[in-house]
Amino acid sequence: MFITAITIFTALFAGASAQLSGRVGPTTALSQKKTVCNVLNYGGKVGSSDIGPAIGSAFTNCVKKNSGSVLYVPPGNYNMATWQTLNGGSNWAFQMDGVITRTGTAGGHMIYIGTANNFEMFSSTSAGAFQGHGYQVRNTGPRFLRVVNSVNWSVHDLIFVDSPEFHVIIDGGSNGEIYNLAIRGANLGGSDGIDISGTNHWVHDVEVTNRDECVTVKNPASNFLIERIWCNQSGGSAMGSLSTGINIKNIVYRNIYTNGGNQAYMIKSNGGSGTVQNVLFQNFIVRGTAYGLDVNQLWASQTPAAGAGVKLQNITFQNWDGYVVDGVQRPPVQFICATGNPCTGISLQNVKMWSATGKAVNKCQAAYGTGGSCLKAGSGGGYAQVTLTVSEPSGYTNPQSMPGDLAAGFSPTAAIPIPSIPTSFYPGLPQISPLARNK
Ligand SMILES: *[C@@H]1O[C@H](CO)[C@@H](O)[C@H](O)[C@H]1NC(C)=O
Ligand SMILES: *[C@@H]1O[C@H](CO)[C@@H](O)[C@H](O)[C@H]1NC(C)=O
Ligand SMILES: *[C@@H]1O[C@H](CO)[C@@H](O)[C@H](O)[C@H]1NC(C)=O
Repeated sequence: MFITAITIFTALFAGASAQLSGRVGPTTALSQKKTVCNVLNYGGKVGSSDIGPAIGSAFTNCVKKNSGSVLYVPPGNYNMATWQTLNGGSNWAFQMDGVITRTGTAGGHMIYIGTANNFEMFSSTSAGAFQGHGYQVRNTGPRFLRVVNSVNWSVHDLIFVDSPEFHVIIDGGSNGEIYNLAIRGANLGGSDGIDISGTNHWVHDVEVTNRDECVTVKNPASNFLIERIWCNQSGGSAMGSLSTGINIKNIVYRNIYTNGGNQAYMIKSNGGSGTVQNVLFQNFIVRGTAYGLDVNQLWASQTPAAGAGVKLQNITFQNWDGYVVDGVQRPPVQFICATGNPCTGISLQNVKMWSATGKAVNKCQAAYGTGGSCLKAGSGGGYAQVTLTVSEPSGYTNPQSMPGDLAAGFSPTAAIPIPSIPTSFYPGLPQISPLARNK
């Protein structure tokens, strides 16, 4: 029996692992977390004008006093006017089955989880949601959720709609798992979906609609697996912006579907120092983004940082199929590397990026590697920008839309409806874990 369990676990882990360095998620099953800390017993009520203090009280007076507890927000509508910092919880869960609407206007984070250990935040109905009505307090109100320096945790089966600023931020920590999320922001900047740093995190089955980061890796980061991501008219996924002392390694993105938006993937910096290495971008489907595969180390939107440039080395792009809107205006594939610190070991394998206009020009600068486009072989100095007029790549399929794709983003000046969480996030692939409500 023991052997069998270990074998199954190892098989599952091997299937999921790629660049992960170990298991992720809470170490204790939810069924073992038996003390219920219901906000309705800590001063909250359904229809409350500010559920914040009841969340804080349930955490301080119940979760912190009982190892193995569940902070419970039952189904129903609540407003939230004051933000909560939930620090140092261990062996606990936050079961968010309600719909919480932001009414307060302060900045910060509506829910800040600090140094949690063995933690799970989820909705058992897969319908728990935060509604930010960001259009009322654009870029001055709060962000929704920040998880800081936490270990052995998960966030899943939640819906985040129209945060005044970023939606979900993972700041350091290790062994985190994020899955089965729907995130809908407005069609403008500052609406980041997930920004994540730390080590050994697995992000999968996430849909993001917005006009800024979809699922973006921040410094420092190591051993991430990010897969089955649906960027539905989003800004697109990225790494950066990268500044000084960068240490990012062993990252895999795979099965990433991007419909519209700014880019399929961008590595962005301007000056700076440190290294990004051992990264694989595998199986990307791209429909009508502005930029496609976009490495830009002279990114004009970033103030130049001290240093000759972040070193990019051993980075593979494999099995990409799709098109940008206008491949002459903005290249389907560009590597604008730092002339003071050229990119090396770039590998393009079966990258079939094309243009809706039927014309495209790729760009390279200080970029070395294999697989075509305008990459130079070997290694050497920081050569100046070259362009290469390309024709339709053989094997390009003009990939089709997924049902439920957006034709345009959501207006930044009107309420955005709360969606339900999809069950597939990449064409032809099911989600990895069923929705909590289907379990
Ligand atoms: C996290 O989980 C791992 C088991 O996967 C365990 O070895 C480690 O001690 C846990 N970390 C903490 C801080 O409890
Ligand atoms: C290059 O990166 C890949 C991951 O994409 C990794 O498997 C490989 O070991 C790295 N090679 C070197 C020489 O570090
Ligand atoms: C993508 O946007 C469309 C249009 O609003 C929406 O119907 C669909 O539910 C969105 N997809 C997801 C997964 O939320």
